[in-house]
Amino acid sequence: LTEQDLAGRHVLVTAGPTQEAMDPVRFLSNHSTGKMGYAIAARAAMRGADVTLVSGPTALDTPHGVTRVDIVSARDMYDAVTSRAPEQDFIIKAAAVGDYRPAQTADEKLKKGDGEMNIELTRNPDILAALGKDKKPGQLLCGFAMETQNLLDNAESKLRRKNCDMLVANSLRDKGAGFGTDTNVATLLFKDGHRETPPMMSKEALADLILDRLLAMSN
Ligand code: C5P
Repeated sequence: LTEQDLAGRHVLVTAGPTQEAMDPVRFLSNHSTGKMGYAIAARAAMRGADVTLVSGPTALDTPHGVTRVDIVSARDMYDAVTSRAPEQDFIIKAAAVGDYRPAQTADEKLKKGDGEMNIELTRNPDILAALGKDKKPGQLLCGFAMETQNLLDNAESKLRRKNCDMLVANSLRDKGAGFGTDTNVATLLFKDGHRETPPMMSKEALADLILDRLLAMSN
């Protein structure tokens, strides 16, 4: 039996992509499959936590013992997460949230013309930054960063800017990392300035490691 070392803890995990509708048939999104976030939710539940998984559209099954809340857009995710944030001990933001959405969502399918089409985009709210501003005492926030360049500098600045306790940085360029893979290569950055780069491991093993580090920080 797995040690129930997260018993009594409330853990909220976000996972998957968001979809930002242009019209009833089209959307902007990204390649996130949700595997990393689902692995974290599954392992946290196995270890006894009370787990809420706020998920964008994915093909994955709900992990055993996890309460899943399905959302579509970044604004839906914002509402689902911020309304449940106050009672959480750990919030782990593995979702690939769309930074922009079409400024207008057409009620009817957009028709093509002969020329170019331009779509105006508007910024989505940053959920993690909002959580960081409003962090309740003792609550721990873990963000994710995926970059194609300057990974660690960008990750460090995200950790500070969004008031996170820990940030998991993974490069899209590393072999064995990124969208749809079953393994991940990551560097963990901590609020106190130290960093840890574990070897390439399964997303389940990395999930356990992330939970271990959050648990250690909370004690
Ligand atoms: O997009 P960015 O690289 O800034 O994402 C870093 C972290 O912030 C991720 O954990 C992501 O889930 C979160 N984020 C968010 N709301 C956004 C954009 C990103 O919570 N609108």
